[in-house]
Amino acid sequence: MIKIALAKGRVASEAVKLFKEIGIEFSDYDMNRKLILRDSSNQVEIVLVKPSDTPIYVENGVCDCGIVGKDILLEDNPDVYRLFPLNIGKCKMCVCGFKGERIEGRKTITAASKFTNIAKNYFDSLGIKSKLIKLNGSVELAPLLNMSDVIVDIVETGTTLRENGLDVLREIEDIYSVFIVNKASLKMKHSKLKPFMNQLKKLKLGGEK
Ligand code: PRP
Repeated sequence: MIKIALAKGRVASEAVKLFKEIGIEFSDYDMNRKLILRDSSNQVEIVLVKPSDTPIYVENGVCDCGIVGKDILLEDNPDVYRLFPLNIGKCKMCVCGFKGERIEGRKTITAASKFTNIAKNYFDSLGIKSKLIKLNGSVELAPLLNMSDVIVDIVETGTTLRENGLDVLREIEDIYSVFIVNKASLKMKHSKLKPFMNQLKKLKLGGEK
């Protein structure tokens, strides 16, 4: 049995479709609120977790592998193998704010984000001293309520920004899902994991060129 941690929501839905393409079916996915599901051939178990917790389950070895956004890997730098990118979970990490908000030439900036490490590294690279405010969601509120100059956040369709009168000011990084594996599992379960990973890899890969 291979145990795989998947971020609940869009990534899990897209991953379940990928698994179907390689003949692994979860017929009860989305039918109930179960958090652990087994495929019809009893070979793979998916564990549905909060996105930012995905690497924690893999790092601790309770899941052999996981599918997680590059955003979370960059932010938390978990001790797992990052094996290959997948063609799902595509979006961009951006600096956003009110149109015309200046970034260049600033000495300091206040930024709200779920990704304060990514934000700090980015502003450091520009030589701007940043004050970071860590939020766990609805980050767009920060500039609207004048709590920060900008936000550093994921932009997928741009709808949330548009509907809140904000814009992309800078693109920091392309984000996509990455297949990660627990270091011990890769050795201990190699014979089971290898064919599964090879099949997934054969699907059209995204991310790194
Ligand atoms: C993410 C992100 C943006 C939004 C971007 O939030 O933080 O708010 O999605 O997507 P869009 O460009 O397609 O509008 P999420 O939906 O995960 O909710 P959260 O604010 O609770 O983190």
